[in-house]
Parts: sequence; C-alpha cells; structure tokens
Amino acid sequence: MASEGAQITKGSTKTRTRRSVLADSSNPRWRLRRTVTLIGLMGSGKSAVGRRLAQELGVRFIDADSEIEAAAGMTIPEIFEKFGEPYFREREREVIARLYHGEPFVLAFGGGAFINPETRALAKRESVTVWLRADLEVLVGRVARKDSRPLLKNRDPREVLSALIEQRYPIYAEAALTVDTRDEPHEAAVRNVLTALRHAREVTRQRPPRRRRRAALTAGSPS
Ligand code: S3P
Repeated sequence: MASEGAQITKGSTKTRTRRSVLADSSNPRWRLRRTVTLIGLMGSGKSAVGRRLAQELGVRFIDADSEIEAAAGMTIPEIFEKFGEPYFREREREVIARLYHGEPFVLAFGGGAFINPETRALAKRESVTVWLRADLEVLVGRVARKDSRPLLKNRDPREVLSALIEQRYPIYAEAALTVDTRDEPHEAAVRNVLTALRHAREVTRQRPPRRRRRAALTAGSPS
C-alpha cells in the first residue's frame, strides 16, 4: 500500500515529501537493532535505497549530504565552489559526528564520508555498515541522470568513477555487509539489503500486537 514517505532533503536545502510504494511505516513488520549506514560510490543508490528501506522498517531516514547542506545553508555544489573540497570534508566529518544518537534509523553517507578514518571508525562503532557495491557501468549510467555532483563537473564521469573505484573499494570493503546492486529498480536493492540485515540478525520480524494475537487464537479455537 502506498503511504506518505519520510521527509527528505536530498539535493536541496528545502524539505519535501515523497510517496513510497513500500509498506505502511505506522505498523512496521520489522525491528531494527542498530542504525544502518549505507555507503558506496556516487550513483550506487544510497539515498534512494535508504529512503525506501527506512520506510519499510518504519524508522527515520537521514541523508548526510542533506544535513550538511542544511547546516551550511547552501547546496553541496555551492560549498565546493565557494570553499573547496577540504572545507566540505571537514563539515562532513563534523555533521556526521552529531547524527548518531537516539532510536535506530537509516543513514545514507555521501560517497567520500567513509574514507575519512574518524568517520569510518564512528560508523563502524555506532551502526551496521552496508556497502552498496556497483560496477563501473551501473555507476556511469546512473550518474548521467544528475548533474549536481561537484567531483564530476566538467570531467569524464567514467574516468573519475574508475579512479574512485580503485581508491575507495578497498576501504568500502571494511563495511560489515556488502550488497551488490545492478541496473534494476531500487526496490530490488532494498529487498537485498533487508535480506542481508536479517541474515546478520540486525533486523528481526516484529510479533503482531497482543490484541491481534489473542484474536487470532480465539478465532482458531473451538467454542
Ligand atoms: C561525494 C559524493 C556526494 C557528495 C559530494 C562528494 C564523493 O554524495 O557527498 O559530492 O566524494 O564521492 P553522493 O555519493 O550521495 O553522490
């Protein structure tokens, strides 16, 4: 059943609401033991998958890039343009350090966040880290749909992504779980992440509320 989506701010400092095709979050079927941090390269689907996963689990979704934008009062391309990448990395580290608290939720990192050793250690300690691994072709196809990524501006996306795969994949491999994503609808990746989380016992099935259990038992018993 379609239901109102979690509030998201990805790509702009304004808050908007999206519809989801996944489960109704008011009555989650799952219990999430720890926060989930999604990592992976640009185009791996972290935000889209994270938002849908959070909806399915009935928990909050936070997009780290959107939090950085909100804190800075400007978009990521503007931060890069005005202050440069080192400044962005410092803000990224600071903002993420404030995010891990409260009830478990789903957090999507920007592609470079897990590369910072401090942020990486924090994510490993405070959450279950999930790498959305995708091959070059999938990433190149996906990033072509959006032109708001400063690292790809005026550059050949294939070259940049290929270099980033070399540099970052050995580090992403430190994630607790790895889920391969292909050129398929994000719902497929959501299902695969959920399966990986269930196997790792990070997610368990929620028992139905007491009243419904008793009603089910009474309905089944002879009068
Ligand atoms: C970056 C990825 C971006 C964003 C910034 C830098 C990176 O996030 O944080 O442009 O270093 O890979 P997405 O991975 O969500 O595109």
